[in-house]
Amino acid sequence: MTIKPTFPDAKPVAPAFLDDVRAGLSRPQKTLSPKYFYDTAGSALFEDITRLPEYYPTRTEIGILDVRGPEIAALLPAGAALVEFGSGSTLKLRRLLRHLDKLAAYVPVEISGEFVQAQAEALSGDFPHLRVEPVVADFTRDIDLPESLAGLPRAGFFPGSTIGNFEPEEAEALLRRFGRILGAGAHMIVGVDLVKDTATLESAYDDAEGVTAAFNLNLLTRINRELAGRFDLDAFAHRAVFNPQASRIEMHLVARNAQDVAVGSDTFAFAAGETIHTESSYKYTRETFRALAERAGWTWIKVWTDPQNLFSVHALRLD
Ligand code: AVI
Repeated sequence: MTIKPTFPDAKPVAPAFLDDVRAGLSRPQKTLSPKYFYDTAGSALFEDITRLPEYYPTRTEIGILDVRGPEIAALLPAGAALVEFGSGSTLKLRRLLRHLDKLAAYVPVEISGEFVQAQAEALSGDFPHLRVEPVVADFTRDIDLPESLAGLPRAGFFPGSTIGNFEPEEAEALLRRFGRILGAGAHMIVGVDLVKDTATLESAYDDAEGVTAAFNLNLLTRINRELAGRFDLDAFAHRAVFNPQASRIEMHLVARNAQDVAVGSDTFAFAAGETIHTESSYKYTRETFRALAERAGWTWIKVWTDPQNLFSVHALRLD
């Protein structure tokens, strides 16, 4: 079956990769945005991460969705359109769909048109009665949902603790934006990783096999390939540390020695031990996430966790 996605953005999203790299590497604390992790190689490495023994979030969230699926389904209005922000592989959605037999439509919102179309077609093959209406858009901007959804009750789905990769004030703005996109009366199901002991957190982001290290270093490979960068990958090391004050895992790339690195026509100087901060992954308690959702204008309904309290799935409503 061929599905035609809608493209609500006037022009395709063209991330200004070079501008962002230039600006990020010119700061006193060098930074690169984690959104650039996900080229083809990076996306494949991320899929590998989700299957690592140390990376508990994916399997734990799936466990919660499996066990609590009937309760989650009972909370959502019958005949709703389910909008997934950043639908990725639709793995978690498929687990939820087993319980959502009265869904009117599934609306995956993804930045990559080809990817979302392929996923939507595969999903339609597996769930022939499900109406799938993909939207190709950047969900960090305001988007209009397809007109065909007018009048349907709406529910948002934002699993994977992707919310944790945003600074708390950005996360609040994002939840507020989801509220604007979905409209009054909407529900939202959000997956959020929980604060826990430092050893568990740090090994989830620094696995024994070195997959997360390869994922982090792939950012430099991407800069070398796409922006004529001259990073020597052997001259940088992966580091993941939990920052308890900020309640976040920080991933860095650490320069093993002093060096100058050219990226196109620019050169950036690194001192030995200097780092590029490539990702923050914020960890919440049930209460701190509830407070964040309420600041963003949502009414908090319920939270489900696993028996070990590793991960949480929250239900919200927009009154
Ligand atoms: C996509 N995101 C929720 C992952 C996380 O856990 O913050 C990205 C990731 N980075 C390293 N491992 C996984």
